[in-house]
Amino acid sequence: MDSLEFKHYGNDIVAYNKSLFSEFQVDLFCPEFLSSNPSLHYERLLPSDIKGRQGLHLFTYHGQQLVLRHYYRGGAIAKFIRDSYLWCGLHRTRAIGELQTLCTLRQLDLPVPAPVAARVRKEGLTYRADIVTRLIPETQSLSFRLTENPLSADTWRRIGAVIRRFHDHNCNHADLNAHNVLLGEEETVYLVDFDRARVGKSARGAAQRNLSRLQRSLSKLKEREPSFHYSGQDFRSFLEGYGTD
Ligand SMILES: Nc1ncnc2c1ncn2[C@@H]1O[C@H](COP(=O)(O)OP(=O)(O)O)[C@@H](O)[C@H]1O
Ligand SMILES: [Mg+2]
Repeated sequence: MDSLEFKHYGNDIVAYNKSLFSEFQVDLFCPEFLSSNPSLHYERLLPSDIKGRQGLHLFTYHGQQLVLRHYYRGGAIAKFIRDSYLWCGLHRTRAIGELQTLCTLRQLDLPVPAPVAARVRKEGLTYRADIVTRLIPETQSLSFRLTENPLSADTWRRIGAVIRRFHDHNCNHADLNAHNVLLGEEETVYLVDFDRARVGKSARGAAQRNLSRLQRSLSKLKEREPSFHYSGQDFRSFLEGYGTD
């Protein structure tokens, strides 16, 4: 079972999953360190289907492929503040929140990346943060898949059924869009990006808002690119899989 260990290095706080690694040094959050160590097989990943994203850092540590992601501000504020957030206590930081959410979701046996580690760098009243998860290999985002080919009705139903399982556990994904649904071999469905997600607290209307957000994201991609393989019938198949009871 995942369990987190916390370590302090000056202004840096590192939390890591001690069921996966007996130690996780603070340097592993530093892309320059990763790229200067050939044994870590560092690779910069620029997900070509995600416009405006900063990319991810992929590396191998003790035989496991890991993904490092820095937290960047989104929305209008991003023009002024790139990556710092107001400090309201360690457990309210983006990175620790997401790491803990992933631990909870894995315990519930839901298909999410394994949580590996997080670093929070405190700078006065603000902080910057990073997270490391285990790579789910051989996956493509739903958004990318639909630029290439349509999906079968069965795959749409399968995506609906998986999202329903999250909702049955009161998991409210704060940003359920077509980039955060991944499809793996044999159309296995995973969800990623649990920044600001909540689990276990029922919030009225949250599930419906999640579904509407996903539908909007798909419609927006279709508007932008008419050859995008998505139709109203696909969403009906999705809802069939999600179920109504
Ligand atoms: N652990 C992982 N395994 C496989 N792919 C991942 C993993 N983490 C992220 N990705 C890929 O990188 C993309 C960006 O990561 P995400 O966590 O959604 O961050 P953000 O949307 O904030 O940039 C995802 O849509 C997914 O395609
Ligand atoms: Mg995302």
